[in-house]
Amino acid sequence: MRILSGIQPSGTIHIGNYFGMIKKMIESQDDGELFAFIASYHALTSVKDKEFLQRNTFEAAVNFLSLGMDPEKSTFWVQSDVPEVLELYWILSNHTPMGLLERGHSYKDKTSKGIKANHGLFSYPVLMAADILLFDSNIVPVGKDQIQHVEMTRDIANTFNNTYGDILTMPELKVDTDVQSVPGTDGAKMSKSYGNTIDMFGNKKVIKKQVMKIITDSTALEEPKEWENCNVYTLCKLFMNDSELLELQNRYETAGEGYGHFKLTLLNKINEHFAPYNDKREYYLNNPNEVKEILAHGASKAQKIAKEKMKIIRDAVGLSY
Ligand code: ADP
Ligand code: TRP
Repeated sequence: MRILSGIQPSGTIHIGNYFGMIKKMIESQDDGELFAFIASYHALTSVKDKEFLQRNTFEAAVNFLSLGMDPEKSTFWVQSDVPEVLELYWILSNHTPMGLLERGHSYKDKTSKGIKANHGLFSYPVLMAADILLFDSNIVPVGKDQIQHVEMTRDIANTFNNTYGDILTMPELKVDTDVQSVPGTDGAKMSKSYGNTIDMFGNKKVIKKQVMKIITDSTALEEPKEWENCNVYTLCKLFMNDSELLELQNRYETAGEGYGHFKLTLLNKINEHFAPYNDKREYYLNNPNEVKEILAHGASKAQKIAKEKMKIIRDAVGLSY
């Protein structure tokens, strides 16, 4: 069973990305053959700054490797190191009705906000379909925001197969219902674009500042407090076991401590959780050539499969003669 997933290198990763996606991706290495890539071509739809894209691509690789991506067991590469995907993207474009793309949520959201969409953003789902179909992926684990893209992939594969025969493998969606949306420091969904994120790695002072910024109600120190809907408590749930949570609930219900104390508890938990990965991360940050070698090795494994599949597809559509 082949599992495929990608992440865009479009900013610093936060604990929402970690619990929503990265952790699951790393764990899925035990469930099947994982194909994971850094979606650098996709990031071009929003990133127009060369150094920013380069830095984020490298950092995404370092973070994944530090968190447990195993480049021997899995195939881990940067999307643009296997440009065969662009050939498939073009071929699939000819099996993608305009109406299908016009119904795309992310394109519709952006244009309704007055953002001028370019062709890259409009055709983004076709490139995602190419990512999935090029590697005969069986399962694509996605969050809610990506469901439509996998459904589009199935539609495109169907049209193609109806024309040329059973060439493309139909991917199954795997939507994780137990992953709730991780709230940000303002209580809304944590997202790079809302400025409400909490980092996993990096400067401890920055992480402390982010945690201290979490919005709470203004119950006084000497009053008991409600934990049910408190953002600090909700974030603590990601890091604590049942008995730690019970203890925290007691602290909320017993007067005498303020939200500042609970935030420090959360901060300690965050630092404790990611500490084991920090040494590895430092190592990779200081050995960029090793990271590049790992990515080159991943790209060559992925490219071998991509070339074989493209040969079959080129033959099927009549590009070989
Ligand atoms: P952002 O909203 O910060 O730009 P992305 O859209 O790049 O994040 O998301 C990358 C991955 O992380 C996706 O799989 C997405 O579902 C997941 N993710 C992002 N934010 C959250 C969150 N607050 N809670 C759970 N998962 C999230
Ligand atoms: N569009 C995905 C995101 O923004 C990233 C992605 C690109 C992807 N190609 C993919 C995810 C193929 C799964 C499969 O999160």
